[in-house]
Amino acid sequence: MSRLQGKVAVVTGSGSGIGQAIAERLAQEGADCVVDYRDHVEEAQATVDKIVAAGGKSVLVHADVSILADCTNLIEQAWQQLGSCDILVNNAGIEIGADFWDVTEKDFDAVMDVNFKGAFFLTQAFVRKLRDAKKPGRIINMSSVHEDMVFPHFSTYCASKGAMRMLMRDLSVELGPLGITVNNIAPGAIATPINTKLMADPKLLDPLLRNIPLGRLGKPEEVAGLAAFLASDDAAYVTGSTYVMDGGLMRNYKEQ
Ligand code: BGC
Repeated sequence: MSRLQGKVAVVTGSGSGIGQAIAERLAQEGADCVVDYRDHVEEAQATVDKIVAAGGKSVLVHADVSILADCTNLIEQAWQQLGSCDILVNNAGIEIGADFWDVTEKDFDAVMDVNFKGAFFLTQAFVRKLRDAKKPGRIINMSSVHEDMVFPHFSTYCASKGAMRMLMRDLSVELGPLGITVNNIAPGAIATPINTKLMADPKLLDPLLRNIPLGRLGKPEEVAGLAAFLASDDAAYVTGSTYVMDGGLMRNYKEQ
């Protein structure tokens, strides 16, 4: 399938987990891709290798998405080295668990800066270039079921994802006339490094699995398939929506 032939994508947090799977899948569908890394260049290089193996071109760029200049540079590198930037996947994300009354300013800033401020200004840089070039584009945000559903002891994470939900809705209206679509993917529990602690501890994992009607964690490749759809012409008329992929978790209210 080459639904994305001739397209260029920036996928943040593409050194591991969902981001890595998305970069690889977009390349399999024909896109070239900018891969970023903050700390782990070797992991990001593995993503580049996968993209090249899939027949795509790839550029590796150091970026901390919580720094505005790094966001602008990521988009600039896509245009300079790959000739365009048509698809932006705001995937980089972190979570720090704490009781609400113990949340520090440092942890609040860390979560909001990566999950929300980074996505906000990266999107701004992405849109400015497309507007100047008069080209259409696709924005796909990696949100979470927690843009809607409570996650006690993760108030900063929930706040960042709730903000991303409203940003997506707002931008779908503001950017529609530019031919730019904006959608969120809201994964439930996916088997990625963000869930390392959860996956290693049956006391945490077993109750969660009992709450997931499909009885398992999701796979990064499954999220990547949805991202590829949203990036493709098949989703040309889709904007302003959140796509939940959670094995039924959100719908599973139960009286214990
Ligand atoms: C979080 C995971 C959590 C999952 C389901 C995700 O957004 O990153 O830590 O397991 O939601 O609650």
